[in-house]
Amino acid sequence: MRLVGQTVAMTDASALVSAVDVSTARIVPKSATAVGYAVATKGAVARQLGLSRAALESNGFTGEPGQVLSVPGADGVAVAVGVGEPGAIDANGLRSAAAAFARAVPKHADVALNLADLDGEPRAAGQAVTEGVLLAAYRYTGLKNDPKNASRLRSLTLVVGDKRRKAVEQGAERGRIVAGAAALARELANTPPTYLNAKELAAKAVDIGSAAGLHVEVFNKDQLEQMGCGGLLGVNRGSVEPPRMVKLTYSPRNATGHLALVGKGIMYDSGGISLKPSDAFHQVMKMDMSGAAAVLSTMSALKALRCRTKVTAWLMCTDNMPSGSALKLGDVLTMRNGKTVEIHNTDAEGRLVLADGLSLAVEDGPDAIVDIATLTGAVMGALGPEIAGLLGTDQALVDQVKACADAIDEPVWQLPLEKSRYRKLLDSVVADMRNIGGPYGGTITASIFLSEFTGDVPWAHLDIAGPMKVDGDEGIYSKGATGFGTRLLIDLATNFTPPS
Ligand code: BES
Ligand code: MN
Ligand code: ZN
Repeated sequence: MRLVGQTVAMTDASALVSAVDVSTARIVPKSATAVGYAVATKGAVARQLGLSRAALESNGFTGEPGQVLSVPGADGVAVAVGVGEPGAIDANGLRSAAAAFARAVPKHADVALNLADLDGEPRAAGQAVTEGVLLAAYRYTGLKNDPKNASRLRSLTLVVGDKRRKAVEQGAERGRIVAGAAALARELANTPPTYLNAKELAAKAVDIGSAAGLHVEVFNKDQLEQMGCGGLLGVNRGSVEPPRMVKLTYSPRNATGHLALVGKGIMYDSGGISLKPSDAFHQVMKMDMSGAAAVLSTMSALKALRCRTKVTAWLMCTDNMPSGSALKLGDVLTMRNGKTVEIHNTDAEGRLVLADGLSLAVEDGPDAIVDIATLTGAVMGALGPEIAGLLGTDQALVDQVKACADAIDEPVWQLPLEKSRYRKLLDSVVADMRNIGGPYGGTITASIFLSEFTGDVPWAHLDIAGPMKVDGDEGIYSKGATGFGTRLLIDLATNFTPPS
């Protein structure tokens, strides 16, 4: 269904990111019209910049991480890019510095970054700066007839000495794949809800999955009924669009472990008959499928990254809408694992669809399950807009997820899964549990609800309601969806150690 008679071609801005030509060279190529030079707070300043340290400083540039100063020339622009104390910058600092560089040269198609003066691990540096430039270049242009803000980036050359070139190149290739995946997640979440319903996301998953060497299975409403997926079907009841569940499997030879991923795919969350109270909430609820988008995008990158872990993924997709057939308060659903749930608020729908996905993941017998969901507004009260909540049943797995988050700079913070204290808040008179707890600790009670469906499998949960979006352009992000969790889950899958 389209909202207007005339068709405006939707552009896929994530494809632009994946198509950027990333390469390495010993010297700056002539084609590059914008060239960045890493400048530390002390030490030599690249001669090609054409400015001495004193001249930089008199223009306010001290070399602090993320600072940039553009020096226009006859055939392009040279940019001083601050990298802080000599030798001190890490991969996360480099990613941010590279993003600041990209933001300083938005009109340029062919850009280069001189890394010759940088030391540190070359592979990680190559990956980080590539991610920084490519992630910062992504702009959602969707249905604009004349997208003046579209990314113009065509090529990125990393300039580096012979000794480090091979490693930088390998890192850069990894960075290109990771940034492309994150851009895909942003594109999916930014897409208007009527342009991406559950059926269409499933169709995309089939296309993306087959191109990425995955086995893809799509389950329709009849199949979900046969499988007893009462949570997904219950949420779907108020919607005219049918639900879809997608299972994706990445199965490398001689896999070193098996990780399962489950993503919340609420294509639009109106709240159901517990209708959301304000336009501001509704406005961002097209992004309530950000978890599913991160999982699908992660899966799309595994083969290219030669991931050694077997990964299975479940995308739990439906709208949450109010209608004459919608779920009512007091209704009881029977979930895939047989447990019964009394509905006390139809806006607590994410946990209902995840319950079935988690139950199915358990049946596969993986070494660990990680789910990712825009699950609770409460997590923003606890951790603010930039940090995701992390909870789980297995501390080794939680620690592993936290380490990945730190390494790639998608911040998470663990909250306690206090079942012995708070499980009682979910007690129901008529069913095994109700779908909401009390007014406080909403992220914890939601997680305790989920833990009823994870059996004995080590499980961790990411609540990304805060960082699913940003409200302005800054660093690697542009206003709109962030793709949060994609880089984290890619890091987890490709470095996964089964918890013992
Ligand atoms: N999708 C929302 C959570 C959300 C809110 C995500 C804001 C991103 C931004 C979720 O389905 C929801 O509505 N949660 C309720 C739960 C409550 C009814 C127990 C909430 O947080 O208000
Ligand atoms: Mn909701
Ligand atoms: Zn929701």
